[in-house]
Amino acid sequence: MDLLLIGPPGVGKGTQAARLRQALGIPHLSTGDLLRRHVAQGTRLGTAAAAHMRRGDLVPDHLVTEMALDRILDVSCAAGVVLDGFPRTLTQAEALDSALAGEGRRLAAVLHLTAPGQTLLRRLTGRRICGGCGNGYHLDTRKPRTPGQCDSCGHRLVQRGDDATETARVRLRAHTRQTQPLLARYRRAGVLHEIDGCGDVGDITRRLLAAFAAHATGPAPL
Ligand code: AP5
Repeated sequence: MDLLLIGPPGVGKGTQAARLRQALGIPHLSTGDLLRRHVAQGTRLGTAAAAHMRRGDLVPDHLVTEMALDRILDVSCAAGVVLDGFPRTLTQAEALDSALAGEGRRLAAVLHLTAPGQTLLRRLTGRRICGGCGNGYHLDTRKPRTPGQCDSCGHRLVQRGDDATETARVRLRAHTRQTQPLLARYRRAGVLHEIDGCGDVGDITRRLLAAFAAHATGPAPL
């Protein structure tokens, strides 16, 4: 029961993937989170990825693919996984397909979250993260009780380096350039389902779950 949540930066993939994880009872894999962990720990992979992430560019395929497949093929994901942020290129998609096929698995659905560019930019530039526990906030839509401070652990809230306006614009352009061919591939295969990523978070989750249920019982996608 592998499910891919795809869409531009800031569209709500992380927010929704966490909710799908709970609803479906399968793990959530975010390559962005994994990469940030590697950067924070100063691993070889993190060191190689950091400059690309700072600029808002995609990290090279060979670095991301090995990291992601290691996790996807781990026993903890044997019953399936909600993929958030992987694959983002055709090369990554081909590697994923053959790895899943080797395990007798396949993508059950590809759900494409969409929102207008101005909404994405506002969501990215207004996002704040707790430096202690990692909880997410937003200056407009998810304010902490005390400005600048986490409701749960009291740590200071920080802005992700790549959420600064100019870098966010670079990320949005990188998405259009490198991920659009991937969308075309899934569209041709008849497995892509477009989901409106605007509005109430709970409503969006319900749209995603309805689309997933419809696709997961349909014909084999790839
Ligand atoms: P990653 O961390 O995956 O970043 P992203 O794709 O740019 O996505 P974001 O995490 O910024 O946004 P999101 O869609 O998850 O939105 P969220 O739910 O947080 O990747 C970071 C970097 O790592 C990449 O730039 C690249 O360098 C590298 N990388 C990762 N994977 C890679 C790969 N496969 N190949 C190569 N490089 C890779 O929501 C955003 C904000 O909006 C939050 O504040 C949230 O509270 C708010 N929000 C969410 N939903 C709503 C709503 N319905 N209404 C109002 N506000 C909302």
